[in-house]
Amino acid sequence: MERDLQRVEEQLASSVLVTDPYLSEIAGHLIAAGGKRVRPGFAIAAASAANNSPIAATPEVISGAVSVELVHIGSLYHDDVMDDAEVRRTVDSVNARWGNLTAILAGDFLLARASELAASLGTEVAGLLASTIARLCEGQILELKDLFNVERSEELYLESVDGKTASLLATACRIGGIVAELERDQIETLTVFGHAYGMAFQIVDDILDIIATADQLGKPAGNDLIEGCYTLPVIRTLQSDQCTDLAHLLGEPLDTSTRDKVRDIVRAGPGIASALDDARRFANQASAAIEPLQGTQAHTALGTAAAHLLDQLHTVDTV
Ligand code: IPE
Ligand code: IPE
Ligand code: MG
Ligand code: MG
Repeated sequence: MERDLQRVEEQLASSVLVTDPYLSEIAGHLIAAGGKRVRPGFAIAAASAANNSPIAATPEVISGAVSVELVHIGSLYHDDVMDDAEVRRTVDSVNARWGNLTAILAGDFLLARASELAASLGTEVAGLLASTIARLCEGQILELKDLFNVERSEELYLESVDGKTASLLATACRIGGIVAELERDQIETLTVFGHAYGMAFQIVDDILDIIATADQLGKPAGNDLIEGCYTLPVIRTLQSDQCTDLAHLLGEPLDTSTRDKVRDIVRAGPGIASALDDARRFANQASAAIEPLQGTQAHTALGTAAAHLLDQLHTVDTV
């Protein structure tokens, strides 16, 4: 896997090279900054459901892995404009360094590059990637629609997470499976895994926004509250009888001292533990989904990822 991820790095870097070095620099900015590379890792891991020992990924699987990471990075360019974020992957965000207009166009460029690669892998992959980009937009628009809404429902929160995050993790696994020409039922199994993992992953990200520091995250902490994005831990806190004064503090842009007060209320209330329960449920669903792949490399790699997420949930719970 290490060697395969190195090949992903090389192809990511070359995929943004164009004649104009200015565009290459901007489009390569977050590629060079690193990141966990969860999505390409999942594409490669999923493709290995055909193997019972580690073997190098095919060039097509590497291209599939690169295409999902390019979609992810393009969506981060757009997301940082939406969130007015200044830091991403420990470096300046693209919008902070080059402005919103450039960030949006460079994000579009990355999505276009991803689409080119997907098209080289066949019509099914091309169609899947396109519909996933549409789901990402649907999820982000749902989130925008409910900004500053203290009555945001859990259903619409989950629907937004489904679109903006779980869909791409599901697609990462699915593309790995399609490109590796796995059996259809294996492809479905991998998709269910990626989706459930993605739901847990975003809930954890939303919890960390409230309890972690910017240094720990390499991106702003507490920004969701400032931007009016009320996520599961906040929605659950708002529902609790113990925190009836919270709604009065929310519903409008916050200064940092009110933000800190809100974070303290949410941390002290039942919302974090309650959201962690949901994340745990999704992570367990992910683990259970891949049971039929027992004995394959995919089961080992994806099972390890789900186990790490569950460990992380345990650590968060004991903070
Ligand atoms: C960040 O994704 C956006 C979310 C879906 C929460 P990652 O946490 O995978 O970000 P990188 O790729 O490691 O920077
Ligand atoms: C994920 O949501 C954004 C995308 C899926 C692009 P967030 O807005 O929570 O992501 P971060 O916290 O900024 O990484
Ligand atoms: Mg964001
Ligand atoms: Mg976040």
